[in-house]
Amino acid sequence: MTKRFGAVTALHEAWLKVRDGEFITLLGPSGCGKTTLLNLIAGFLEADAGEIFIGGKLVTTLPVWERDLGMVFQSYALFPHMDVARNVGYGLRARGVPKAEEATRVAEALGLVRLSALADRRPKQLSGGQQQRVALARALVIHPRLLLLDEPFSALDRNLRAEMQLELKEIQHRLGVTTIFVTHDQSEAMSMSDRVAVMSEGRILQLDTPEAIYSRPTHPFVAGFIGDATVLPGRLLARDDSSAEVEAAGLHFTVPAETLGAAQPGAAISLYIRPEHVQPIEEGPGLAGTVVSRAFLGDRAELLVECGAAGRLLLRVPGQTATSRWPVGAPVRMGFAGAQPVAFVA
Ligand SMILES: Nc1ncnc2c1ncn2[C@@H]1O[C@H](COP(=O)(O)OP(=O)(O)O)[C@@H](O)[C@H]1O
Ligand SMILES: [Mg+2]
Repeated sequence: MTKRFGAVTALHEAWLKVRDGEFITLLGPSGCGKTTLLNLIAGFLEADAGEIFIGGKLVTTLPVWERDLGMVFQSYALFPHMDVARNVGYGLRARGVPKAEEATRVAEALGLVRLSALADRRPKQLSGGQQQRVALARALVIHPRLLLLDEPFSALDRNLRAEMQLELKEIQHRLGVTTIFVTHDQSEAMSMSDRVAVMSEGRILQLDTPEAIYSRPTHPFVAGFIGDATVLPGRLLARDDSSAEVEAAGLHFTVPAETLGAAQPGAAISLYIRPEHVQPIEEGPGLAGTVVSRAFLGDRAELLVECGAAGRLLLRVPGQTATSRWPVGAPVRMGFAGAQPVAFVA
C-alpha cells in the first residue's frame, strides 16, 4: 500500500501477508504509518496505490461494513447511553441478527472477556480495563474474519496492561482469529505476537518472529529499535557467502554476512552488541572499562561501562550481588565469549 497525505508519504509500498489464525503486530515509532495501514485494511482510508485481499478476496473498494472486521481502538468508543450487553450486541443488531441469537452470542462474548456479571452496567460505571474488555467483546461478537487493534492498551496502567496482554493473547489463541495489532511498545509486540512487522517512515523493514527480529535483524533500524544495543564502529576483515570476520575495539567477531550487502574487506561497519553478549571476566581477551552507572533490577543489574575510544557498553549481570561487586568507578573487564552480534555497513 502507498498512502500520501499532501506532501507526507505515510506509507511507502508497505507489503504484508498475514497467515490465517496468525497474530501479527505492526511495531514502530509514532508517525511511522501503523494507524494508516490499519485504517486502509479496515476501509476507513483510500490508498493511493495497492490492493488488499482478505481470504483471497479483493476488498480494496469494499466499504468498511462489508469487510467483516472487528476493531478495537485506544479510546474505548463505547456508546455511553447503552449498557454493556447492548454495546456488545451493536454489531449484531446492525447486521440484522435475530434477538435470541444476539442474546446468546453477547453472553458468549462477555464470558470470553470475563464480564458476564456486568452486562447491565453503563460504560461510565466501568474501569478502563473493563471498558476495553467490552470493546474487545464487541469486536469479537460478530465472529470477524480479521481482528484489528490499534494501541488498545496504551491508556491502561502498567499492571493492567500486562494482564490485558495475556488475556487478549489467550482469547486470540483460543478463537484462532487472525489478528493485526498495532503498538509502539516493543515489549508488548514481542510478548504477544507470532510475527512482528517493524515499521519506520512508512515502510515495513522486517517481518519475522520476535526471536528473529531480535537476534537476526536485517536492517540497522530494527537492530537499534528492538532491545538494547551498543554500536561499535569497526572494519570488515574477511567474508564468504554466509559469515564474515570483523574487527571492532581491537577484538575480532564472527557475524552473519547477509546483512553486509556487497561490502568488501576494509569496509567500515557498525557492530551491534547486545547486553547479553558481554560478560565481566577476570582475564583473557576483552575490553577494559569503568562502571559509570548502574541500576539494580531485582533479578539482575545493568551496568553502563565507559571503555574509552570504544564508547559505552551496556552489560546485564544476573544475580543480586552485581551492584556491590561493581560499584560506580569500579574497573571491569568484559569478554564476548559466545556472542553472536550482527553488523551492518556503516
Ligand atoms: N489525516 C491525516 N492528514 C495528514 N497527515 C496524516 C493524516 N494521518 C496521518 N498522517 C501522517 O502520516 C504519518 C503516519 O501517521 P500514522 O499512520 O498515524 O502513524 P502511527 O500510527 O505509526 O503513529 C504521520 O506523519 C502523520 O502525521
Ligand atoms: Mg497510530
